[in-house]
This record gives sequence, C-alpha cells and structure tokens, in this order.
Amino acid sequence: MNPNSELGPALQALTARAEEALRRCLPPAEQSPAELHRAMRYAVLGGGKRLRPLLVYAVADAFGSRGMSLDPAACAVELIHAYSLVHDDLPAMDDDALRRGRPTCHIVFGEAMAILAGDALQALAFEILAGDDADVDSNTSIRMLRVLGRACGAEGMAGGQALDLAATGRKLSLAELEHMHACKTGALIRAAVRLGALVAGADDEAMQALDRYAHAVGLAFQVRDDILDVEGESAIIGKTAGKDAAADKPTFPSIIGLDASRKRLAELTDDALGAIASLGERALLLQELAHYAAHRAY
Ligand code: IPE
Ligand code: IPE
Ligand code: MG
Ligand code: MG
Ligand code: MG
Repeated sequence: MNPNSELGPALQALTARAEEALRRCLPPAEQSPAELHRAMRYAVLGGGKRLRPLLVYAVADAFGSRGMSLDPAACAVELIHAYSLVHDDLPAMDDDALRRGRPTCHIVFGEAMAILAGDALQALAFEILAGDDADVDSNTSIRMLRVLGRACGAEGMAGGQALDLAATGRKLSLAELEHMHACKTGALIRAAVRLGALVAGADDEAMQALDRYAHAVGLAFQVRDDILDVEGESAIIGKTAGKDAAADKPTFPSIIGLDASRKRLAELTDDALGAIASLGERALLLQELAHYAAHRAY
C-alpha cells in the first residue's frame, strides 16, 4: 500500500526520493552483524509516511534549493523517528504488536535486538548528518547536529515520551497535554523544518516564521494521531486502533473530546498556514503538508 496516496505528485516524488536515500544509508542486510542490520532495515523501510523527510525537502523547495545535500538531513530525522517508534512499541512502553501494518520490530527480532536497532539507528542519524555528503560549511553542520540532538533528547522527544509515561492513567490539563505532545512529536517535526531551513540558508526572520509553522504542524500531527486512534481502523492506520483508551493515555479526545479536538486541529492548520503566508506561492508544498498532517487518514 502507498501510505501517501493522498498527496500530490510533487510530494509523492519526494517520498520516493526519501525511500531511495534511506535504503542507501542503511547497512546491508547480509553484512555482519546481520541480525542487527536486518532489524534496522525492517524498522525503517517498508512503510511510513516520511513526513519528516518531506518537510526537509519542502522547506528547501520554498527557498529554491533541491540539492543532494538535503538527503543527509532528511534521512537523519527519519532514522531518529524510526528508532523512536521501535522503542515506543516495546512492552516497557506502549507494548504494541502492530506498526505500519506489520508486526513490530521486537515481535520479529526480539526485545534485545529491537533496543539495539533503535540505539544503532540513533547513532547512524548523527553519523550521516555529520558526514561528507552533507555538503554544508562546518558552522552550519555543528548547528544542525545541535538541532537534532536537542530535538531527540530530554528537552524533546525522549523527554516527551517520559512525560507520556508519567501521565498514563492521570488526567492532564490541556496545557500539560499540549506541552507533552509538543515534546514527544513536535520537537522532531520542528527539527526537520529547521534542518531544511539551515541547508537552504533561510534568514532569521524566515526561520522564526518556519518555527511557528512547524510548531503548529507538529502539534496538529499528534492531535490527528490521537483522533485516528479513536476513529481509525487498524487495517487502515496500520497499528492497533483503540490502544490509547485501553491504556488510559492522556490524548486530545480523552481530555477535550472529539469535537473540540477537531476544532483545535482546524485552528492549528490556520496557524500553520498563517505563519508561512508571507512566503506565498513558494510555500505550496509546505501548505500541502500542513493540510496533510491534520487530515490524513493514515
Ligand atoms: C507515528 O508517527 C507516531 C507519532 C509521532 C504520532 P507517524 O504517523 O509519522 O508514523 P509513520 O512513520 O508514518 O509510520
Ligand atoms: C509516539 O506517540 C511518539 C513517539 C514515538 C516519539 P504514540 O505512542 O501516540 O505513537 P503511535 O500511536 O504508537 O504511533
Ligand atoms: Mg507512545
Ligand atoms: Mg505508541
Ligand atoms: Mg498514537
């Protein structure tokens, strides 16, 4: 199945570009330690919307840059994302058996190998971002490494996941919930946008506008994820529907209800589009991705 059939031709072509770049950057399945390499490839390839790489490409597109030097940033964010999903699905966390329509990494390779695959994907992300293909000056390269490190660490994704675990079974305020979502999902989405902007050489003013855009898209993306857990069917979303309620997770629908969640999604989409309005026609792909994040069926 093509998870991105809802997207227009330009973003579909960029999805194919991301797939190809990811396939190339992963270690060969037959090379030792083969089981680890197979687990890494399984976790990354064969499904996934590639939203984060698409954001890297779309931001650069808005600034007239489509070069090869975007692939390392695009791959790095997606590798971090894939690692976060492998660990998120572990029994110690969400204990999920289905992801992207297939058994989760630990179901196929065992827990120990899934933990190691996550570790190795995270390390590979930084190696690629700092590699020769990145083709940016060393100052920019260091800034990019810092952006990604911050986004996936205690201030970002890992911190958000810790808040998520601590909040399970408790009732959060809306502000606490939005903060948790902004960390666990939003931080990496903001990093994707920022990395694309750094490669493309966006100035400070554009960077601020893009950051507002990314904040809104990141939050909208997780609100949509929460809604799909309630409304979606496992066969379409590729993961077990209804898990959030079963595990008593704090989510948008559980805290403010489905109607208010949909209203919040519409507001966030308006915020995202408003933030990049000054870029006009140049930002068509970013506009399309803002709608997609909020309305996707998968
Ligand atoms: C799922 O992310 C987890 C969240 C952060 C909401 P995606 O919905 O981007 O997962 P894939 O990569 O498309 O499978
Ligand atoms: C996961 O959020 C966020 C990260 C992996 C960082 P969820 O737990 O809601 O994601 P799904 O629903 O399992 O994809
Ligand atoms: Mg989770
Ligand atoms: Mg989960
Ligand atoms: Mg979810």
